[in-house]
Amino acid sequence: MNTRVLTGITTSGTPHLGNYAGAIRPAIQASEQPGVDAFFFLADYHALIKTTEDPARVARSRLEIAATWLAAGLDPERVTFYRQSDIPEIPELCWLLTCVTPKGLMNRAHAYKASVDQNTAKGVDPDDGISMGLFSYPVLMAADILMFNAHKVPVGRDQIQHLEMARDIAQRFNHLYGDEYFVLPDVVIAEDVATLPGLDGRKMSKSYNNTIPLFEGGAKALRSAVMRIVTDSRQPGEPKDAENSHLYTLYRAFAPAGESAAFRQALEQGMGWGDAKQALCDLLERDLAEMRERYVALMAAPARIEDILMAGAEKARKLAMPFMARLRDAVGLRRLGGSPGVASATGSKKAASRAARFVSFRDETGSFRFRLLAADGEELLCSIPYADPKQAGAAMRRLQTETPSLRAEGMAYLAALDDAPVAYGPPAADDAAREAALARTRETLQGLARAD
Ligand code: TRP
Repeated sequence: MNTRVLTGITTSGTPHLGNYAGAIRPAIQASEQPGVDAFFFLADYHALIKTTEDPARVARSRLEIAATWLAAGLDPERVTFYRQSDIPEIPELCWLLTCVTPKGLMNRAHAYKASVDQNTAKGVDPDDGISMGLFSYPVLMAADILMFNAHKVPVGRDQIQHLEMARDIAQRFNHLYGDEYFVLPDVVIAEDVATLPGLDGRKMSKSYNNTIPLFEGGAKALRSAVMRIVTDSRQPGEPKDAENSHLYTLYRAFAPAGESAAFRQALEQGMGWGDAKQALCDLLERDLAEMRERYVALMAAPARIEDILMAGAEKARKLAMPFMARLRDAVGLRRLGGSPGVASATGSKKAASRAARFVSFRDETGSFRFRLLAADGEELLCSIPYADPKQAGAAMRRLQTETPSLRAEGMAYLAALDDAPVAYGPPAADDAAREAALARTRETLQGLARAD
């Protein structure tokens, strides 16, 4: 079985060199491994938590981040690449999970606690400025992950607690509703992935204002940032301490081993910082120039990106829709008008079977359908797709109450109302098997009609 790897990128900023080396590059490399089924998405609902005051920033960031990942080589055919906000099943699941999440668990979330601590230190109300979005952020993140039953979730260290919470919430849901609905996800912390230093040597981060832009601003902005990297005051000709210079750390993150060794040696033998910066610029240009060209082309064609993301959403929803239908059923949000058996239908293993029943569901295209299942769970009929759930419900109800006409159709059989086929039985191996299945279906329908 493939390993499903999933990660989200909050769309609140412009990707910088640190994001590229620390997250984008390793994620794309991982997605190219055999046996990996990768899900990468733009966490744009998460962006609203911190960026409520700046809709333009969120909009711009979604575009920049999508263009960056595509320019960096993400293959949308291979990876499921989508926007969180294009999957309505995610907030729907988020609510089901919210209802099984103890408030006390959320009280312990680091991000929330840090905000409370800051407020306390300032002497204002502990919950000052804290939205419910911030408070229940880990539940939304759990929904992102559990929706697709991801096995592995690569994230930064600051997200470990959120993964633990996702596991807790999944376990609680599985336990309450009596089945293994959700896979318990494992966190993946990439130890060997570069954490790049910024201009001042601290971790490269938007919040320290020490970033080197990846594509935005072009070669010029990249060069001007490199020239601002802080170095010590050693003059050309003086040996440099390469190991402790972040210029060297940056160089190493982009050069093959042989080249970084040569660079290090040159520094130790007195290469001037100006020349070293020029060498770093050349190296980065070599690595990034082609990607930057693709980025610029993509940024100029947002409709193309939109198409790619919509195709990704469609791929993701093929999984999310039927799974959400199953989860709705599990918690008791079911179509009305089914037989008494419907209530105990596909939900939990414990409650399943015992009575023949109609079960409604949404298929992968989002259409409404229903099945007739025998007491042992065998499928006797599966309806045609309906765009309108009311119509599907009405047909189901009629099959149950009025004895419909059943007739053979090739190796299969069908049930018709007013002479129009509304449901089909599965094809049988031979005529005798088909006649047996037909008879069984007829008896089952009569049984349900009596129970009604
Ligand atoms: N909260 C994550 C971050 O800030 C982004 C994110 C949202 C995420 N949903 C996710 C990461 C699901 C992994 C899986 O980095």
